[in-house]
Amino acid sequence: MKYIKKKFFIEGIKVRNLAKKFRTPIYCYSYKRLKENINNFKKNFKNLKPIICFAVKANANLKILKEINKFGLGADVVSLGELEKVLKAGIQPKKIVFSGVGKTSEELSFAIDKKILLINTESRSEILEIERIAKRKKRIVNIGIRLNPNTDAKTISQISTGKKQDKFGVTEKYFLELVKYVKNSQYIKLKCISVHIGSQILNHQPYLKMLKVVDRVIKKTNYKFEFIDLGGGMGIPYGKKIKSLNYKRYSSTIKKTLKKHKAKIIFEPGRSIIGNTAILVSKVIYIKKGINKNFVIIDSAMNDLMRPALYGVEHQIIPESKNNNFTKKTYDFVGPICESTDTFLTSKKFQKLYEKDLIIISDVGAYGMSLSSNYNVRPKPAEILIKGRKINIIKKRQKLKDLI
Ligand code: LLP
Repeated sequence: MKYIKKKFFIEGIKVRNLAKKFRTPIYCYSYKRLKENINNFKKNFKNLKPIICFAVKANANLKILKEINKFGLGADVVSLGELEKVLKAGIQPKKIVFSGVGKTSEELSFAIDKKILLINTESRSEILEIERIAKRKKRIVNIGIRLNPNTDAKTISQISTGKKQDKFGVTEKYFLELVKYVKNSQYIKLKCISVHIGSQILNHQPYLKMLKVVDRVIKKTNYKFEFIDLGGGMGIPYGKKIKSLNYKRYSSTIKKTLKKHKAKIIFEPGRSIIGNTAILVSKVIYIKKGINKNFVIIDSAMNDLMRPALYGVEHQIIPESKNNNFTKKTYDFVGPICESTDTFLTSKKFQKLYEKDLIIISDVGAYGMSLSSNYNVRPKPAEILIKGRKINIIKKRQKLKDLI
């Protein structure tokens, strides 16, 4: 993705032409970026030979999942819908883990029938439910138990999951009790200890703390776990000045801390695989004068990209065509929805914009389309995957008539 003669391109395709052909807003993905991210992830964690299960919640587009499958990744799913989708995408059951605090009997039963790698459980009640289903089906089910390591991930508060007050996982004490219980179960085989402390983690320190807790707890259980599932959470730079997570350091600390347990490592990355692969192309509808600033009202809104409204986070916005004519005005990029949080970004240094100009919202591949909604009866955007000079429509724009 880059400018060529002041026009923005994804691989060999001019974004302007995509907007003309498919209208806006549209999500556009680069296959090359996806490939680079996966190879980069594999390379950085090579010394661990991990099982990499893509966290489908970050992006559940079927065609994207099919591409991810071709790279040999498995999947981390959190619902029946996600599970059915990854199976349809061709991902082998033996590469699928099922996470989540509240899996229903129907979901558990389906997962058991499909013989997936692991069901990562998060409570005694869930374990008992799995036991009941397994007994009925005369099956032995492989599970993990998710530990809440009480570690602050030092990330956006709404996406932090590893502190003791969070609903995720079980406390150390409870974990030890559950291990004891499961050891004697006829229908359940405990295979994994799992953790996930949060998302968009840029500092490796919280991970180091988490690893120490995992190590300590495994020692206390005196149990041989076949897998250690370290979750995902690896952050990406959403702006130029932000440094990404030091993978190499994380990887070598994992090796150092956990090697003695001789367990296979599982990762569940979402954002780090798909986050920077996509842009959201939007058109300026109107420019309205405010006090000391101009509102740039675009045709994307919080229903298309929820992250800024939900977490107050920034996605960089760049012009589709550069004109190098910078304005002194502050621009507030906003969507058309009647909510004050339907605001994307305030920019103090942007080129002069005009109505009907195209703009690009960056790094929307993760939790972009997957968090989108039909709020305000707005149809969801189309998704397009670019491979070199090839344009693949991987999701058609929703039709209004289907919403009405
Ligand atoms: N594994 C588990 C158990 C998770 O809960 C998550 C994310 C992941 C893996 C993947 O995390 P990642 O590698 O993508 O950071 N909607 C928020 C992010 C929520 C993440 C929830 N869990 C956002 O847009 O920032």
